[in-house]
Amino acid sequence: MADANVYPPSAEFVQQANVKGIEGYRALYQRAAEKPEEFWGELAEQELHWFQKWTHVFEWNPPFAKWFPGGKINASYNCIDRHLTTARKNKVAILWEGEPGDQRMISYQELHRLVCRFANVLKGRGLKAGDRAIVYMGMVPELPIALLACARLGITHSVVFGGFSAEALKTRIQDLEAQVVITCDGAWRRGKEVRLKDAVDESLTDCPTVRDVIVYKRTGGEIPMQAGRDHWWHELDEGVSEICPAEELDSEHPLYVLYTSGTTGKPKGIVHTTAGYLLQAHMTMKWVFDLHEEDTYWCTADIGWVTGHSYILYGPLSAGATTMMYEGAPDFPQPDRFWRLIEKYRVNIFYTSPTAIRSFVRQGDQWPNAHDMSSLRLLGSVGEPINPAAWEWYYKVIGKERCPIVDTWWQTETGAMMIAAMPGAVPLKPGSGTLPLPGVIADVVDLQGNLVPANREGFLIIRRPWPAMARTLWREPERYKQQYWERLEGVYLAGDAARRDEDGYFWILGRVDDVMNVSGHRLSTMEIESALVRHPAVAEAAVVGKPHEITGQAVACFVTLKKGAWGDRHALAEELRKWVGHEIGSFAKPEQIRFTDALPKTRSGKIMRRLLREIVTSNSVTGDVTTLEDLDVVTRLAAQHDED
Ligand code: PRX
Repeated sequence: MADANVYPPSAEFVQQANVKGIEGYRALYQRAAEKPEEFWGELAEQELHWFQKWTHVFEWNPPFAKWFPGGKINASYNCIDRHLTTARKNKVAILWEGEPGDQRMISYQELHRLVCRFANVLKGRGLKAGDRAIVYMGMVPELPIALLACARLGITHSVVFGGFSAEALKTRIQDLEAQVVITCDGAWRRGKEVRLKDAVDESLTDCPTVRDVIVYKRTGGEIPMQAGRDHWWHELDEGVSEICPAEELDSEHPLYVLYTSGTTGKPKGIVHTTAGYLLQAHMTMKWVFDLHEEDTYWCTADIGWVTGHSYILYGPLSAGATTMMYEGAPDFPQPDRFWRLIEKYRVNIFYTSPTAIRSFVRQGDQWPNAHDMSSLRLLGSVGEPINPAAWEWYYKVIGKERCPIVDTWWQTETGAMMIAAMPGAVPLKPGSGTLPLPGVIADVVDLQGNLVPANREGFLIIRRPWPAMARTLWREPERYKQQYWERLEGVYLAGDAARRDEDGYFWILGRVDDVMNVSGHRLSTMEIESALVRHPAVAEAAVVGKPHEITGQAVACFVTLKKGAWGDRHALAEELRKWVGHEIGSFAKPEQIRFTDALPKTRSGKIMRRLLREIVTSNSVTGDVTTLEDLDVVTRLAAQHDED
C-alpha cells in the first residue's frame, strides 16, 4: 500500500492510540471472528455495568438475534450513575451552546440530578416500563435528559427530527401508539423560531393514545396550552425528588424506535434494544474515535437521527466522554460558527457529514483559517460517501495534515459503526471506509450471493449478527425479514452498492434501492411520491435522486396532473414543493418538479425510475424544468428493451 493516496497513521498518533498498529487491529478482528462469544462476553463484562450477568452471549434464530439474554442492565445507569463513583463525577458530560450563544456545562453529577428529576416527572404521569414516548425537540440539553429519563424507567423513546412536519409526526405517534409527547415551545434556527409545539398540536388530532404533552420552554414565544393534556416541564419539575433508581431491565428491553425511510411509503420503525446496542456504541467510541479521558468530543449531527443517538448520547456518555452539543445552524450568524466553537471549547475530536464539508469548501478557506483549531486531533465523516476532493480539503484545511479522518460506514439499522478505521492502526485511503470493525463480517457479493472479484461492484452484506443490530421493525417482523434477510438467504443486505479493493478496503458507492441520500438524510422516493399524489392536482408522481454538488443527491420529481388541473405551472411547482414540506418536512422539499403527460412505465406498469434517473443525471431533457415533457418517446423506446 505504498500509494501516494494512502495515509498511514503518524508515529505520534500511534503512540497514544487505543489500538496501535495494523497488528493491533488484526488481533482484535481475528479474535472476534474466531471466538465471538468470548470476545463480546469479555468486553460486556469489562465495559458495562450489569445488575445481573447474562446467561449467554447471543442467541441466533435467523434473522432474529438476542444479545446477552438473561442479563439485567440499564442504559441510563451506564451513561451516568456508574461514573459518579469515579473522578468523572464532576467532569462535564454535556457541553452545550445555543444558537444565540448561551452556554451550559452539565457535569455527570448534575446530569444525574436532572435525569432523575425528569424520570420522576414521567413516573408522576403514570408512565412505566414498556410505554412509549415520542420526543420532538430542538437540540437543547433537555432532549438527551428526556431520553435518559425514559431509558431509566424502560420507557421506549422515539425521537422525531424537529424538521419533520406535523403530518409526519402524526404517523409516527400513531404507529408507536405513544402515551406521551415531549416537546419544546420552539427551537432556534438561523435566528428564527421553529414552532415545534404548534406542529405537535396539529399532529394530535387522531392520536387517542397520547395522554400528556410535556413542553420544555426554550424560545419563550406565546403558545396555546390545552388544559389537562399539556404541561410545562418546569412546572411538573417543581419540587420532585432527585432520587430515582434505574430500573433493572432485560438486556433485550427496547431502548428506542427510530423511524427511517424504506422503499415503501411507510417509514420503518427500527427497534434497538439495550445491552448489545450500548456495548457496540461504547466500543466504537474507543476504537474509532480513539477516545481519551481528557478529550472534548463533538458530533455535529442532530439527535433526531441515529448518529445523534449513538454518538452524541449513548456511546459518548457510556464511555464517560465530554460530549458537545450545538443547537443551531452551522452558518449562523456567519459561516465560521463551527470553527469558532472548535476554537472556543478546544474540541479534540470532530465528527460531521460530507454535505457539511462540501458546503464549507464552497464558503472558502478564510473562514476556518481565521481560527486556532490546533486542539483537533481526529476528524470523522458519516452519512454518505465522501468524495476524495472533499476528504483532502478536510484533511488539509481543517486537520492541517495532522489529524486522521475516520470515514465511518453504518446505518440506522446497524445501530453503530460497522466499517471504519481504527485511526492508530489502519492506513487511510480518501473515500474509503477502510476495513470492517471487530465482529463485523462484511462482504461484497452478486445477486446470487457469490463474492465478486476485487474492484468489482456488488452488494454490501453482513454475514453474522452483531451486538447493535436492529432487532426487528416495530410491529412488523415479517417486513424486517423480507427487507434485509430474505433476498440473499441468511445474510444481511445493507441496500448499498460497494466494491472491495485489492487491499480488502471497502468503497461504498451509494444506495441500490429506492432510497435517496440528501445531505446525509435518508429519504424514500415512495414516501415523496405518496405525498405528491395526495395533492388534489396530481395524478401520478415519480421521484428520483439527482446528483448534487453539495448535498450528494437532490430530490427530482416527475409529475402528471389530473385533467383540468393546469394553471400557472411555476406557481403549481412551488405549491407542490411546499406541499411536500407540509406532508414530510422542509428538508424533503424537491429541488425540481417536472411536469409530463405520461410517466415511462414497463409493460407491467412499473415506473421506470432508472430511466428517469438517467434523464436527471445526464440532463438529456433540458430546458425549463417545469415545462411539459413528452416522455412518450422515451417510454416507447425503453419499453422495447425492457426485460419484463
Ligand atoms: O448509503 C449509506 C449511507 O447512509 C445510509 C444509512 O443512512 P442512515 O440510516 O440514515 O444512517 C446514516 C448515519 C449512519 C447507508 O446505507 N452512508 C452512511 N455512512 C456512510 C454512507 N455511505 C458512504 N460512506 C459512509 N461513511
